[in-house]
Amino acid sequence: MDKPTQASEEYLDTLLRYFEDEISSEAYFYGLAEHFAEREKTILLARVERRAAEAVRPLLHKYGLEPRQESVIRDQGKGYVEVHQSYSWHEFMAYIIKRYPRYLDDFADLENLAPVRGVIEIFSQTLPQ
Ligand SMILES: [Fe+2]
Repeated sequence: MDKPTQASEEYLDTLLRYFEDEISSEAYFYGLAEHFAEREKTILLARVERRAAEAVRPLLHKYGLEPRQESVIRDQGKGYVEVHQSYSWHEFMAYIIKRYPRYLDDFADLENLAPVRGVIEIFSQTLPQ
């Protein structure tokens, strides 16, 4: 099947949701950093989330997508901290190893939804500057 040349509603909704998820996850990791001795590693995960969000931001501008206020999104992310704050670092790593590969499938799905130009934009945004 040929790639669409126009951004679909589903693509735009997913793009916006993923952007907000990255912001939410940043807050989640910063919150978790208060509970782990491996604070620097957890903060690094938070920074990765911010980096991913900022890589997507130009596409939000291009398509006129308006994320919710960051404070609202961050509060949502902080709400997930309590789910994992009592984990040991080892338990948390085991959780990540089991759970996070699913995100690779999600990102592949996003690329498949993207119009031809959108795929190029996503890749160019994620390359190191
Ligand atoms: Fe993320």
